Amino acid sequence: MKEEGLITVKGRGNRRGGVTGLEKWSSKWAFILAAVGSAVGIGNIWRFPSVVGQNGGGAYLLPFLLAVFAFAIPLMILELSVGRRIKLDVVSAFGSIKCKFRAFGWLICLVLFLLLSYYLVITGWTLAFAFFSLIGAEMTFSSFVSSYQPVVFFVICALITGSVVSLGVKKGIERITSILVPFSMIILVVMVVYCATLSGFADGLDYLFTPDPSVLGDPGLWSAAFGQAFFSLSVGMGVMLTYGMYLGREVSVPRSCLAITLADVSVALMAGLVIFPLVFTFGLQPAMGAELAFTVLPQAFDLIPLGQALAVAFFLLLFFAALTSAISMLEVNVTTIMKETSMTRERTSLFLTAGTLVVGIFPCLSYTGAGLQLFGGRILDLMDNTVGTLGLPITAIIISLVFSWCIEKRELAAEIPGRWFPVVLFTTRYLAPGILVMVTVISILQFLL
Ligand code: PHE
Repeated sequence: MKEEGLITVKGRGNRRGGVTGLEKWSSKWAFILAAVGSAVGIGNIWRFPSVVGQNGGGAYLLPFLLAVFAFAIPLMILELSVGRRIKLDVVSAFGSIKCKFRAFGWLICLVLFLLLSYYLVITGWTLAFAFFSLIGAEMTFSSFVSSYQPVVFFVICALITGSVVSLGVKKGIERITSILVPFSMIILVVMVVYCATLSGFADGLDYLFTPDPSVLGDPGLWSAAFGQAFFSLSVGMGVMLTYGMYLGREVSVPRSCLAITLADVSVALMAGLVIFPLVFTFGLQPAMGAELAFTVLPQAFDLIPLGQALAVAFFLLLFFAALTSAISMLEVNVTTIMKETSMTRERTSLFLTAGTLVVGIFPCLSYTGAGLQLFGGRILDLMDNTVGTLGLPITAIIISLVFSWCIEKRELAAEIPGRWFPVVLFTTRYLAPGILVMVTVISILQFLL
């Protein structure tokens, strides 16, 4: 087998990757927990149930699971394999294929940076609600966001994220994900067991699993499901490319991807099994959209025995999930700037955290008394509709096409085990880019119309 960090680019011969002085995950499980920490986030616990609610319940699961298993997993395998092979930050990884492609790397960094800046605002809300539930303060979402408290919680979350990343892969990311991820899983399982005793559990199950085929003809539903699948698995954004850099050769990439995906999908479904029984037990509205977690659920928590403990557990779970995802977003940019400028990790983390605070204050203030707006909408919503909904399919198309077409086939085959290889190559060369172009077009049309 060829020396690590050497990559053959079609028509351009061998290119050197970066192999020296790299940190490594201390074990396969440390890596899987970190990747699950990135994947499981606000997307699973907050966005997934509310998207299911808006898109006809169980029918949504069909396109979602198809997107996850047939499209997102092959791309995750490609991203991790290339990361492990090439051992370079996102910008240099693209640059090693063709100098001009470095711009793609920077584009991905920019999208992730903007995503992080408003993701941390929502992370702040989750921390605030965990805190209010803990001290038993009566706080509604509207009174919270009309004050300036979201700014305080946003700053706290940005500082925690920056501090963890500045500690590095082993001492920072690995340490925090190996505690928070298993702990969050336990909280979630306990909550599902509790919610199974509620009178609305059967209705919740029905809602989540009974498909209503009539909505399947709606292209918007397919586009939402594909967008959600890639977002939820943190695929197509350079996170897996970066986490792959620290991955040892002994780890099987396809098997790890399956484990990460199963954990991610189970968390999304379990979150549904917590939220919908609560909603139906108290006759609330499932299709409430994004405010489901912050407005509908607190009403339910107020009405049930052990409601306060449940509220603390739920918002802590949401906070831990969001934090470990935010950490992965920052890590991509820190690795890149560190390598591109030769600054230390500490300095880079400080510099980028400061940048996140400066940019994130705008979406943060758009949900406070200041009500900052742009083009007639709140900045946070505008960023989510552009960066969150449109940015990700576009970066995923770039990653999928560039790495599947430009790296020599035999090179990729050396990383991806034989029976997976044809499927991964075919999907990432043709199917995933094709479907993602459709997702992007539909999202643009929905945004404009
Ligand atoms: N997967 C995360 C979630 O579900 C979000 C995320 C997207 C994280 C892209 C990193 C990169 O919330």
